[in-house]
Amino acid sequence: MSGLQAFSPNNGSRAGTPLPRFLDSYGFPINPPARKGKEGGGAIEEEIPTLLHRVKHNGSILSLCVSDTLIYAGSQSGEILVWSIETFQLVKSIQAHQGSVLCLYLSDDGSVLFSSAGDAIINVWNAKTFENLYSIYSTFDVGDVFCVVYSSALQTAYFGAQNTSIQWYDLKVKDSRPRPTLTSHPSYRNHRFFDSKGPGGRTTPRPASKIVPPSSRLLEVAPENIVQYAHYGYVYCMLLITLPSGSEVGGVGGEMLLSGGGDGVVKLWALDPVTSAIKDVKTLGAGDSGVLSMAINDTMLYCGLTDGEICIWDLDTMQLIRSLKTHCEDVLTMSVMGNCIFSGSASGYSRKWNQRFEHMSRWQSHSGLILASAATKRHGRLIYITGGNDDCVAIWDASALEQLESQILKSQNDQLLSSLSKLVSFRTVSSDPSYAEDCRRGATYLKQLFKRYGATATLLPSEEGRNPIVHARFGGCGTKSRSKGKTILFYGHYDVISASESAKAGWQTRPFELTGMNGYLYGRGVSDNKGPCLAALFAAGELVQEQELDADITFLIEGEEETGSRGFVDAVRRNKELIGDVDWILLANSYWLNDDVPCLTYGLRGVIHATVVVESDKPDLHSGVEGSRLNREPTIDLVNLLAKLTSPDGKVLIPGFSEPVRPITPAEEEMYTAITNAIVNKPDWSHLTAAQIKDHLMSKWRFPSLTIHKVSVSGPSNATIIPRAASASISLRIVPDQELSVIKDRLVSYLRSEYSSFNSHNKLNITIDHEAEPWLGDPENDAFRTLEEAVMDVWSEGNEERVRPLYIREGGSIPTARFLEKEFGAPAAHLPCGQASDQAHLDDERLRLVNLYKSKAIFKRVFRELPKK
Ligand code: BES
Ligand code: MN
Repeated sequence: MSGLQAFSPNNGSRAGTPLPRFLDSYGFPINPPARKGKEGGGAIEEEIPTLLHRVKHNGSILSLCVSDTLIYAGSQSGEILVWSIETFQLVKSIQAHQGSVLCLYLSDDGSVLFSSAGDAIINVWNAKTFENLYSIYSTFDVGDVFCVVYSSALQTAYFGAQNTSIQWYDLKVKDSRPRPTLTSHPSYRNHRFFDSKGPGGRTTPRPASKIVPPSSRLLEVAPENIVQYAHYGYVYCMLLITLPSGSEVGGVGGEMLLSGGGDGVVKLWALDPVTSAIKDVKTLGAGDSGVLSMAINDTMLYCGLTDGEICIWDLDTMQLIRSLKTHCEDVLTMSVMGNCIFSGSASGYSRKWNQRFEHMSRWQSHSGLILASAATKRHGRLIYITGGNDDCVAIWDASALEQLESQILKSQNDQLLSSLSKLVSFRTVSSDPSYAEDCRRGATYLKQLFKRYGATATLLPSEEGRNPIVHARFGGCGTKSRSKGKTILFYGHYDVISASESAKAGWQTRPFELTGMNGYLYGRGVSDNKGPCLAALFAAGELVQEQELDADITFLIEGEEETGSRGFVDAVRRNKELIGDVDWILLANSYWLNDDVPCLTYGLRGVIHATVVVESDKPDLHSGVEGSRLNREPTIDLVNLLAKLTSPDGKVLIPGFSEPVRPITPAEEEMYTAITNAIVNKPDWSHLTAAQIKDHLMSKWRFPSLTIHKVSVSGPSNATIIPRAASASISLRIVPDQELSVIKDRLVSYLRSEYSSFNSHNKLNITIDHEAEPWLGDPENDAFRTLEEAVMDVWSEGNEERVRPLYIREGGSIPTARFLEKEFGAPAAHLPCGQASDQAHLDDERLRLVNLYKSKAIFKRVFRELPKK
């Protein structure tokens, strides 16, 4: 067989091959290459922030703000979108305005969200339930409301608009204000465009939809709460500041309002503690360029101007400290967090500055304009968030490098994520011996990770030329009395299927660089099986840290699963004593039935992989020179032989191929009914009737099948050659109660006997490459019971109804599942971590972040609870 392998095309490129610069599906660099250099006159190393995640919407992102748990974004089409900052799942999408959402502001305590928009409305929201609390408007035509801030002390919202006014609404007095008449609401007033008289004196019809909340929520700005001509230009941006005592301006201190205008000035306004009214106390002239954005750090005010300039004012002395031309286009956003200042411009570039306003780094964060930014601290990390007209929100880790390297501050999920990112970076492709070193390094990394989290770990050498198996053990603490000294064995694999790294090929991202997009992690092996292995590792590790682990958890993470677990049986037998007794076996290497209902897997099919080769005793020949009716060509023989495997309508003709199949029990029947009911009207299944779905699932899960994977030929494989040899890879999936040896025999003898009737002088060669027994677990046992409870607890969080997992089987195979059960006399159970759309073995393999985190939580419960049973 070895000679023939050489003509199978190899699509995995070598490690170290230079890659073209990689753009994601949105057309930008996935991870800007880290550049080191000197800039800004200081000896400062450039530290490019790492892209943690990117979420894509279907319109520009114009405004952003962030709380401890959520990212809020305002869109061009009037939506407020809310994502979890932990899992990047879309939590909520509200149609909030009839115009672009230009500004979002979160109250100091994070409980109330303010949005201002192009529809002249300021909406007030409960920031957690997203309920609309109030809708504020002015009786004047204010145009776009560019900015809004909220003083918690005065309970007053201040906003700045296109008509150059600043207005405010004191929520303390909202109930004593006269009820507004609906006719004064901007939606009912004459519209500058829609209601103007066109040619012939006709009016354009208005858009039908109006978002006018009930009048109990409508708040109309009092005429005395308006300062007209606050600026001689649009009021673009606002800040609320509290000056340190001793630095009062014109005798006024405490909370003050800053406004930046298109007239190029920043104004300081004193706030009347009783009436909330504003009084102009100082004007800072910045020049001709409009003030588009502002951020404050201590007493330093950073202003982003039109034309790429940033100017810095010291509010202590009211002096202009610096003015520098930094960006080449409008500086549309400024954010400050800790000692860092971030600016973002219409060129798509962000810059990071230190407190002395020395330049730290510059990188392209969007392919279009950067329209919004926000910054926060999270688990000791500096998070910078940007939004742009490329419809994306990008989340960056802008921590200083030395901070990043110290793991101490990171949250447990952050550590899981960075470990997974590292593990994915090893090209642990087991099918190709040239990746053996990557595999060894991947295994070593895993071993060290186990040790770091408190396990003992070793590499078990496998047979010659095979990747090592990582063996680890987390020891239970205390007396183990509760766990009765029980042991759970977790089995998984760190090897992966090859992935094409050529930029032209199917992957949207680099397959060996973990990339976060829209709540998913993309990368080869992230779902099959590196992510689930690390979820289990971290579950055990965290239980140890929390002193909650009573039982022993043993891990066997092998490196040859994708090539049929070669060497595994021997290695396990050789190390039987080291591995010790096992009470339960856990696997996590399959997928849900669809994308939203958690499942438990209780069955896998077996598989027989065979290579069928027909060879002649002649070399490769030119068909023009040697092609003749007397010459039996190996490829023709092979094709004829393959044709014997099935009838023209696809029925497998190997005698006894479908025998025996275990009869269906009433309990099983019930499970199929439950599954069918759960999915029958879901998008992917709606074209099938319940009966068809049942039939479809049964044929994949409990009946055998045959596949011809590929047919290949020797020689240069061009259309003038008679190949010396032709080869086909085929596989048979087998089911309980079929015996591997019996089905193998039936396959080989059928092919041999059919071939002999060909009377060809070419030689037939059949090799069995690898095989796996089917596995059928007991969904009633303690392991499945415990898994079910854990799945229900973890996936029901935040749901009103308890989420019940579906019990499913799988068409795929895991060679070691049945072997481990027999070898250790222990039952296995299987938790699928991934969704149906994970794309295992295909381009763009992915795993949803929530699934990774929830799987870890499920393992924690199972590792803690199962041993008590
Ligand atoms: N994760 C799969 C097993 C699997 C496949 C589960 C499909 C659920 C659905 C595993 O890593 C795998 O790829 N197994 C191989 C078997 C092996 C002998 C190469 C398979 O099923 O083809
Ligand atoms: Mn696989």
